[in-house]
Amino acid sequence: MFISFEGIEGCGKTTQVHRLARRLEALGIPVRTTREPGGTAIGEEIRSVLLDARNQHLSPLAELFLYAADRSQHVQDVIRPALAEGKWVLCDRYVDATTVYQGYSRGLDMHLVRVLNETATGGLLPDITFLLDCPVEVGLGRALHRNREMALEGQDRFELEQKQFHESVREGYLKLSDSEKERFILIDATRAEEEMETVIFKHIRPLLGHQKK
Ligand code: TMP
Repeated sequence: MFISFEGIEGCGKTTQVHRLARRLEALGIPVRTTREPGGTAIGEEIRSVLLDARNQHLSPLAELFLYAADRSQHVQDVIRPALAEGKWVLCDRYVDATTVYQGYSRGLDMHLVRVLNETATGGLLPDITFLLDCPVEVGLGRALHRNREMALEGQDRFELEQKQFHESVREGYLKLSDSEKERFILIDATRAEEEMETVIFKHIRPLLGHQKK
């Protein structure tokens, strides 16, 4: 089973990836949690280039290619092998992030985005994608709080973007989820972490025992 989590900055998806992993592991289900960008050693290096606040001049196309490079390595080295071993793969962001951030919000050629997504993944899509949706103020508020708690230096390159950009990301995700209803499950991310965990698990419970590779 391959499950991805998407949403704007600070929607809480990383926490939910780990909460779901804990629940599944408690049931004896083998789980592999991972993320994009950065699911491999090479991907971590790519991630640091992408998120470095000093790289404001990174061109939109270069950015797109870096996400594709990260994803290609990730699918080959982590996702496909884990699925082949019968693990549940829980991925913090995947192809939809590129469709929305680079395609919808940055306005890059959607055909190119689609071709790169398909090429990098060999057409591998998640069985389920949870979209954690909340207003931009809620998400950015959480992201800022998290950075302070972790004593990170300010915000990364994406969190520094204009509020308008984040609004368009939210809108892009909602449109995308609406156009692929069979794969997306929309979660109200203004809820408390525990509540979100319960709602997400309600969607997972019927799938237990029906693992597919
Ligand atoms: P994260 O903070 O959720 O780990 O994501 C890192 C940033 O990378 C986030 O701002 C969204 C952005 N991103 C893209 O723009 N395109 C992509 O394809 C992915 C995977 C992430």
